[in-house]
Amino acid sequence: MSGQRGAVIWMTGLSGAGKSTLADALHRRLTEQGCASIVLDGDVLRRGLNADLGFSTEDRSENLRRVAHVAALFMQQGFVAIAAVISPEHLHRRTAREIVGNGFVEVFVNAPLQVCEARDVKGLYARARRGEIPLFTGISGVFDVPVAPDVVIDTAHVSVDQAVDRLLDQLMRMERLQ
Ligand code: ADX
Repeated sequence: MSGQRGAVIWMTGLSGAGKSTLADALHRRLTEQGCASIVLDGDVLRRGLNADLGFSTEDRSENLRRVAHVAALFMQQGFVAIAAVISPEHLHRRTAREIVGNGFVEVFVNAPLQVCEARDVKGLYARARRGEIPLFTGISGVFDVPVAPDVVIDTAHVSVDQAVDRLLDQLMRMERLQ
């Protein structure tokens, strides 16, 4: 209805890297500009749509497959769907890109493990270090560093506002916004 083509902003990165913060900030800025968007946050979706899934490679693949399909549906309706999901393996991001097709933007929300661990907003790193969380990304589970992301945001060095500017630039360049 708005003439906006929509997109999927796929934010990948460690827990605590700043994906949700950045997703919310981008959503707010798009809303101010009159652009329709929605945040698909891994933590939130795992409480409902994906509550049946854990953190094995297979379960994460299924989790992310569902998120990619939901995001693609929103994109097809002209939304900017902002997925904030760890998506730790190359395979996960490649599959999401295949599902979404044109309009997929892979954003590596990059912060060193030490920084994420020092922040430890949810106290999960401490628990993982104590051996209480198997397959915890970055500690007892893998995180493949993205090889060719469309955008890299170093959250330890760039402000949230600057990061949002970069993402809006990217969307403009791809002619996904009105
Ligand atoms: S993903 O790997 O399948 O993409 P997703 O983004 O949905 O993960 O969920 C990650 C969130 O689940 C983390 O922010 C954290 O709060 C929680 N979590 C619980 N167990 C784990 C784990 N073993 N590894 C990573 N995150 C976990």
